[in-house]
Amino acid sequence: MAAIKGVIFDLDGVICFTDNFHYRAWKAIADREHIYFDEKINNRLRGVSRMESLDIILEKAERIYSGEEKERLAEEKNEIYKGLLSEMSREDLSSAVKSTLYGLRGKGYLLAVGSSSKNTKQILERIGLGDFFDAVSDGTNIARSKPDPEVFIKAAQMLGLEPEECVVVEDAEAGIRAAHDGGFVSAGIGEAARSPLTDHPLGTIRELMEWLL
Ligand code: BG6
Ligand code: MG
Repeated sequence: MAAIKGVIFDLDGVICFTDNFHYRAWKAIADREHIYFDEKINNRLRGVSRMESLDIILEKAERIYSGEEKERLAEEKNEIYKGLLSEMSREDLSSAVKSTLYGLRGKGYLLAVGSSSKNTKQILERIGLGDFFDAVSDGTNIARSKPDPEVFIKAAQMLGLEPEECVVVEDAEAGIRAAHDGGFVSAGIGEAARSPLTDHPLGTIRELMEWLL
């Protein structure tokens, strides 16, 4: 195994708890459209782009939505989501995440974000991490979202590292699949800790510090 030199973090559900905001925003849209949507379906949206998320939600719709209608629904969801984001501040960065990030930096690891979200940079600003990472690869610089490995491959390139030199930290099955297919070492938290493709399950993010010496 190559020596690990970098850590690439997923954003929603790993660095911050915006995964719940995504759920609430989609739920508001689904309820209004009378489409059944619950937390189990929401788990399939983790790591998946906005439009692909909408396609998954619309599997339960009773009619076909036109391309124009889908654009509008995605835009409305994003407006609700951004409203929820506007309440975020530095206090939404948990002490566990903060101490892990600063601890890993102190040990000399290069640190990046690898997220499908187009709102990544605004979220990092809000929680006080706007200038923290050595690289940010997100929904604005990729053509294919997770489970495609593109977002992590771009992050590794920005860090100047090979995939096998990077650990990817993920809460989503789609993200673990992306890490696996891209040749990265994966660490899974939450549901992703139970994925058969996860190389290293984590009970909490703090365990990264014990693992990466
Ligand atoms: C991912 C989330 O990080 O970003 C997904 O896990 C979300 O749930 C995706 O759909 C896209 O986010 P955004 O902010 O571009 O709508
Ligand atoms: Mg996630």
